[in-house]
Amino acid sequence: MLYLLDTANLEAIKKAYNFYPMDGVTTNPTLVSKEKREFLSILKDIRKIIGSESMLHVQAVSLTAEKMVEEAFYLNEVIGGNLYVKIPVIPEGIKAIKLLKSKGIKTTATAIFTAGQALMAAIAGAQFVAPYVNRIDNISGDGVGVVAEIVQLFELHNQDAKVLAASFKNVQQVHTVSLSGAHSITVNPEIMDKMLEHPLTDWSVNQFITDWEGIYGKKMTTLDVK
Ligand code: G3P
Repeated sequence: MLYLLDTANLEAIKKAYNFYPMDGVTTNPTLVSKEKREFLSILKDIRKIIGSESMLHVQAVSLTAEKMVEEAFYLNEVIGGNLYVKIPVIPEGIKAIKLLKSKGIKTTATAIFTAGQALMAAIAGAQFVAPYVNRIDNISGDGVGVVAEIVQLFELHNQDAKVLAASFKNVQQVHTVSLSGAHSITVNPEIMDKMLEHPLTDWSVNQFITDWEGIYGKKMTTLDVK
């Protein structure tokens, strides 16, 4: 399982990379716009924080294949590192994914709502496909079910593309897509924190410290006692 953070917020990225085993960052035009700063500075700053090896997924915003391809080359040149260009699964996007595959540029097919879209994107040559779990749930669909079907289709048809499940509103959605075999997830900073939270974990840690300090003294650690 690969963990990615779905944000363009630098403080959130610093925090997640400090504490958690992160594999990358995903952004989209909405997330970048929220930062209200120059686009390139944001992306370059993210690259500085996460390093060149970590995955950075950045979305092209053109609506024609030729322009998407142009954007993909440009983004690779100016941001660099382990970059994936996110391309929506509209017909022009599938064409762009095919072209970019032939030119050795890595892509993530995005805005996926059905397993069929994901399979076509994989066959076209995308490295990752990003189904939007919560947005599917919000239209009375079964987001986790779609992810499970994609995993199954990729196995059945020997596709190397990986599932990057996206759009989560709660930890249970993350848990169930993980069980269904999704290869990676991208979550917002709040969900990333919530994935660890449990009141009994906090209670247990506090109890251990209380018991320990009762015998060995306040602020003492195993380094300080015989
Ligand atoms: O990056 C795309 C996806 O994560 C969207 O998530 O939370 O806006 O549905 P959300």
